[in-house]
Amino acid sequence: MEILKVNNLRTYFNTTHGLIKAVDGVSFNLRRGETLGIVGESGAGKSVTALSVMGLAARLGAGVTDGEVWYAGKNLLENPTLYDSVRGRRISLIPQEAGSALNPVLTVGKQVEEMLRVHLSLTSREARSVISRLLESVELPDPGLTARLYPHQLSGGALQRVLLALALCCEPDIIIADEPASSLDVTLQAQVLMLIRNTKARQGLSMVLIAHDLGVISQNSDRVLVMYGGRVLEAGPTPKVLGGPLHPYTMALLEIYRVMDQGMGEVSLTRAYPPNLYGNNRGCVFADRCQKAADLCWAERPEPQPVGEDRVVACHLVETESSHE
Ligand SMILES: Nc1ncnc2c1ncn2[C@@H]1O[C@H](COP(=O)(O)OP(=O)(O)OP(=O)(O)O)[C@@H](O)[C@H]1O
Ligand SMILES: [Mg+2]
Repeated sequence: MEILKVNNLRTYFNTTHGLIKAVDGVSFNLRRGETLGIVGESGAGKSVTALSVMGLAARLGAGVTDGEVWYAGKNLLENPTLYDSVRGRRISLIPQEAGSALNPVLTVGKQVEEMLRVHLSLTSREARSVISRLLESVELPDPGLTARLYPHQLSGGALQRVLLALALCCEPDIIIADEPASSLDVTLQAQVLMLIRNTKARQGLSMVLIAHDLGVISQNSDRVLVMYGGRVLEAGPTPKVLGGPLHPYTMALLEIYRVMDQGMGEVSLTRAYPPNLYGNNRGCVFADRCQKAADLCWAERPEPQPVGEDRVVACHLVETESSHE
């Protein structure tokens, strides 16, 4: 069953150079208890999608121009005041910019206390026992000490654990984790991801996990969206999408991953630059980097179409169910 449903989300930046379509018609469902991965290279629109779902696009200077975010029977984008009771409480975000997520002049303990006071109306005394339990649950070696520290005194690994504790403090249904461990070294990253996996299983959370690393996505998600140029190019169960990619972009991403993993060789996606979000308003967003692009790919934008069970792909060159209609 779906716990969150996002339909046709469009978030644009109006800049002096023109309109940037950072998120351009993104749809997905999050099922109860699952982890939905969102993967794609830098600039694909992953973070803007996360912030738009949280009702925070305006903080970036962007506007959500279209779309629906359904949670508990309500379209949150149509009822912005509902976000006050949902954000941080029912749906929590672990933001990509870990440093900016915390207030530099308040200790960790004070910040958790503030969340508990605002959202759950706990007194300072009531909050204190919850704080130490929370910090313990994210496996911080000395929760008492950590509570007395300021954010700049924390190591990268401890900072990620504190952010997870903050996200968990109101016992939400959904966590959206935006690159939760990508700034950490490989060992710490593995530890933090394992902690997130275990916490999710223990508390029956549903999760959106954003990462640009296919290894992280393959080990930590049930289904995956592959994003590029503000659009979903492919989506489906993670083992199927990564084991048998259909979209040329997913294939290219996997090839890059394999090459990097082996630490040698040439990447065939030679023109490796971020998606151009201003240009090519008609065709496929990936056409200028796609080695298979045909005339139709430049002329007409492919929409995500169903392929088999539980999969979609947005590519003119892939045979989909609608190709037979
Ligand atoms: N504050 C901003 N002003 C203008 N454009 C922005 C701003 N923030 C993001 N964008 C645009 O939105 C696009 C998507 O950005 P987003 O941060 O969602 O990418 P991402 O997929 O999260 O990348 P990364 O992997 O680097 O975190 C960017 O390419 C950029 O063009
Ligand atoms: Mg991002």
